[in-house]
Amino acid sequence: MKEGQNKYLWWQEGIIYQIYPRSYQDSNGDGVGDLQGIIQRLDHIQSLGITAIWVSPIFSSPMADFGYDISDYCDIHPLFGTMDDFDELLSAVHDRGMKLILDLVPNHTSNEHPWFKESRSSRDNPKRDWYIWKDGKEDGSVPNNWLSVFGGSAWEWDETTQQYYYHAFLKEQPDLNWRNPEVQQAMMDVMRFWLDKGVDGFRVDVMWHMIKDDQFRDNPINPDYQEHQSTFEKLIPAYSTDQPEVHDIVHMMRKVLDEYEERMMIGEIYLPIHKLMTYYGTDKNGAHLPFNFLLLSIGWDAREISSNIDQYEGALPEGGWPNWVLGNHDQPRITGRVGHDQAKVAAMLLLTLRGTPTIYYGDEIGMRDVPIPEEEIQDPQGLNMPGLNLSRDPQRTPMQWDNSENAGFSNAKPWLRLPENYRRVNVEAQQDDPYSMLALHKKLIKLRQQEPALHVGDYRPVLSSGAVLAYMRYTSDQRFLILLNLSHKACHFSPEHLPFEGTIEVDTLPEREGVTVHDQVSLSGDEGMIIRLTGRMD
Ligand code: NOJ
Repeated sequence: MKEGQNKYLWWQEGIIYQIYPRSYQDSNGDGVGDLQGIIQRLDHIQSLGITAIWVSPIFSSPMADFGYDISDYCDIHPLFGTMDDFDELLSAVHDRGMKLILDLVPNHTSNEHPWFKESRSSRDNPKRDWYIWKDGKEDGSVPNNWLSVFGGSAWEWDETTQQYYYHAFLKEQPDLNWRNPEVQQAMMDVMRFWLDKGVDGFRVDVMWHMIKDDQFRDNPINPDYQEHQSTFEKLIPAYSTDQPEVHDIVHMMRKVLDEYEERMMIGEIYLPIHKLMTYYGTDKNGAHLPFNFLLLSIGWDAREISSNIDQYEGALPEGGWPNWVLGNHDQPRITGRVGHDQAKVAAMLLLTLRGTPTIYYGDEIGMRDVPIPEEEIQDPQGLNMPGLNLSRDPQRTPMQWDNSENAGFSNAKPWLRLPENYRRVNVEAQQDDPYSMLALHKKLIKLRQQEPALHVGDYRPVLSSGAVLAYMRYTSDQRFLILLNLSHKACHFSPEHLPFEGTIEVDTLPEREGVTVHDQVSLSGDEGMIIRLTGRMD
C-alpha cells in the first residue's frame, strides 16, 4: 500500500510495547509482577506514546516455562490476578486510547491441561488424537530424531499407554495435533473468547512450529552446527517446522479475527526472509505482522543492515506491512549487544524504519542483561543446557522504576535479582534528564507519531560509505534523512552529487538539534540524527 492511497490501521501506524508481566510491576508484595501492577504503570506507557501493549502469557499455568505452558486458556493465573483484574486492565488500556494484544500459545499446552490429562489417560480416549502420540521403533527407541528446543529428544515416553508423545519444548509442554479438526475448533473458540471481551489482537507463539510432517521423517544433520550452540541446532528442523499446511491454520485464525473489527495477529516466526514472507498469506489471508527478527540476528554493520533492509523491503508481498524488533524476552538485550551509546542509535533505527516497531520493556531506559548467578537460574532453557549460557533470565529482570529498594518494582524480594546500578538507571532518574535514553525514546516516538513520512511514508536507501547507515523516509510533501553512525569512531557523511539542506530534528547528541546542515555532515562515534530536509537530495 503506497502512502496516500488508503486509510492506515492502528497496527500499521502505531508502536507496540512488550511487557513480560512477571517483571513489570508487583502490586501485591509477592515479588512477581501482576495485572494491577501494569494498571499502575499505564501512565508511563502512555507518556511514551505507545499504541498497543503486548503482554506475555497471563493464563493458568504450572509455570514450567513461565506461562508458555498453559493449563487453561480462558482463565488468569492467580499470580497475575483475576479475570476482573484483566477486565479492568483492558478497559483502562482502551480508556487511554491504547490497544491490548495477548499472547496466544496454540502449538502446545501444559501437561496439566485437562485436554492432555484426558489424552494420556488411555489409547482410546476421545482426546487421544489431540496430541501427537507415536509408537517407538522396534527396539523401543524414540520414533525419530527430532530434538526439543530446550535440549534432548523431543519425544517423551508415557509408561501408562506405552507410547511416546512429541514436545517441541519442555516435556511439560506437549504439542497439540493441529491436523485434528477438533483441536482447530477448540483453539478458534479460545480466540473468540478473548476477542469477544474486546482484546485487539494476538501474538501467536511459535507459529512456524504448528504443523509437522505427516510422515515424521528424520530431520537432516546441520553441517554448520558448533559446540557452543544450543543442542537443538544439531539438526535442521526441516520436517518438524514450517510445513506447507501451516498456512491453512494461519488462514483459519485470520478468518476468526476478520469476524471482528480491526483486530490483528502477529506471528512469532524465526525463519529466513523468503520463508517468513509466506506467513503474510496469499492475498492478505495470513498474519498481519509476521515478526521480523532480522535486527536480532545480523551483524551490527552499516552495509549488512542496509542490504538486509533492502532484501526485506524487496521481498514483502503486495500489501504486506513491514515490522521491526530489537529485543524480546527470549533474546539478549540490545544494550548488551551493541553497548549503551550505540543502543541509542539502535533505538533511532527501530523508530525510523518503515513498519511497525516493537519495543521490549526496559529498553526505553537502556536496561542491560543482568548476570544471574548459576544457583539462581530459573529459565528451563538455561537449566536444561548448562554451560552454554542460554538462560533467558538476564533479559527478564524486573523493570527499574526508581532508586528505592527493589527499584520500585516490589516491596518483596523480586523473583529475579536487579542489577547493582538500578539506583542510577531507572525511569525516575531519566524522567527529567534531556540526555537520557528515556528522553530520546520519547522524542523519537513523538516525532514518528506526528510525521506521516515517518510512520507511513516510503523508505529509500541512500548510498553512503564506511560506518554510516543512511536512508530517507518521505511522503509527497515531507522528507527526512536519517544518518546513523554504527561505529564508535567519528566519521563523515558526504554523498557525492547529492546536495541537500536540512535541519537536525532529533540527535542522540541533543546539543545539535535545530542546527542547519547541508551537503555533508560530520558525526561523532555512536551518533545518529534525523534531518528534516528543506532542500534537494534527489
Ligand atoms: C516462544 C516464547 O517466546 C518462549 O519464551 C517460549 O519458551 C517458547 N515459545 C515456548 O512456548
